[in-house]
Amino acid sequence: MQNKSSILIALAVVLAAGVSPVVAAEKAKELTGRDIVFERSKGNCLACHGIPGDPEAESPGNAALPFVAMKGRFPDRAKLRAQIWDATAANPNTLMPPFGKHQILTEHEVDLVTDYVQGL
Ligand code: HEC
Repeated sequence: MQNKSSILIALAVVLAAGVSPVVAAEKAKELTGRDIVFERSKGNCLACHGIPGDPEAESPGNAALPFVAMKGRFPDRAKLRAQIWDATAANPNTLMPPFGKHQILTEHEVDLVTDYVQGL
């Protein structure tokens, strides 16, 4: 009896705090550049860019060139980062959202995405 009620109290405390150990672990896991590119609430790059080399990049849009041979097309990492940070600098009428300038992604997330995309 004693044990049962202390378990119930412990459970009530956990629920009251609104902390599920599973959710806490999920939050602690940092998103990778790939996660951010794929995630609709983050980069959502797949809405417009395909990734032909990644079979999990399903049903991408084709409003823009696919991510292929990126290192050859963007040997200069700073240029690639600048395109992702603010695509309107190169083309004021671009469809592409200015991810850094409008704080859609954090500076760190822009770095993760740049490294991932440059490797495609
Ligand atoms: C709403 C559509 C859209 C989304 C979403 C989008 N882009 Fe773009 N992107 C474009 C278009 C269109 C271009 C072509 C250049 C232009 O029109 O400015 C482009 C160009 C680029 C280029 C340079 C052009 C090239 O040679 O490939 C890179 C790099 C790029 N996008 C990366 C990204 C990344 C990374 C994301 C996600 C964080 C992203 N884009 C999300 C539409 C989009």
